[in-house]
Amino acid sequence: MNDIFKHLQTPEVFKEGNVNYWTDSMFSDLILRAHLDQNHSGGSRNHEFMTRSVSFINDVAPSDRYNKLIDLGCGPGLYCEKLSEIGYDVTGVDISESSIEYAQNKAKQENLNITYKIESFLDLNESDKYDVALLIYYLYGSINSNGRKKLLERIFKSLKNGGILLLDVTSKVSFDNFKEEQTWSFSSKQGTLANNSYIGFRQALKYPDQITLEKTSLLFKDKDPITFNIWNKSFDKDELIKEAKDVGFNIKNLYSDVAGQELKEESEEIAILLEK
Ligand SMILES: C[S@@+](CC[C@H](N)C(=O)[O-])C[C@H]1O[C@@H](n2cnc3c(N)ncnc32)[C@H](O)[C@@H]1O
Repeated sequence: MNDIFKHLQTPEVFKEGNVNYWTDSMFSDLILRAHLDQNHSGGSRNHEFMTRSVSFINDVAPSDRYNKLIDLGCGPGLYCEKLSEIGYDVTGVDISESSIEYAQNKAKQENLNITYKIESFLDLNESDKYDVALLIYYLYGSINSNGRKKLLERIFKSLKNGGILLLDVTSKVSFDNFKEEQTWSFSSKQGTLANNSYIGFRQALKYPDQITLEKTSLLFKDKDPITFNIWNKSFDKDELIKEAKDVGFNIKNLYSDVAGQELKEESEEIAILLEK
């Protein structure tokens, strides 16, 4: 019982829980279903948005001139497929084994020539290879400031001169709208998480520097409790620009999303287009 009290403590900023939500096998089915569910934007955004986003990518970095593309944190390959279909030579990288397995099978079925790798984008170690890099769906803000710097440096190195990076983050508006709360739920259903019933505790917390934590702890009857933490830093436009400039990127443009909508004061997201 004491253990669950430890799990419910407020952690240090950017500290991981005792399981990783993206890689733990307990969640892999759940995550895959969320990615593929058109009514659920938790894993990936819907097809309509992705189609507009891919068309925007092709406008700012046309596939005939910017052919070699890497999608960092590609999930089950929904972007990769669309990009491959319009002529990009696509590499998709993700830490989730089950997402990459799904993506590989799908590419085979559709006869698409996409390279998939099970790998952390934090370990990206290539030079002058890609024309375009994508880091989509708030992945940049999920990492602490040292990690973000290292990641941007690695992406910068992996790009050819003139190569493009597109990434998105949440804005201050999103941070201000984030509601702190603590809730609990009970699930007795078999077949949900590894066939266990559990009591779930969700804590949504705000930290300094526009950082939020969505923390979930699960208490099982006959297993140790688990906690996973989803961190997110929201950015002011100038802060994001500074981080990109610090590693040598040129700022091409800012948008309110990765489909190229105009950036407005009230935008909950900021997308940034960078050039090496
Ligand atoms: C919210 S989903 C977004 C998927 C995709 N980019 C999209 O927009 O549809 C986040 C993905 O990033 C992956 N991910 C998280 N951390 C990662 C890391 N360090 N390296 C590679 N992939 C990572 C997760 O496994 C998950 O598939």
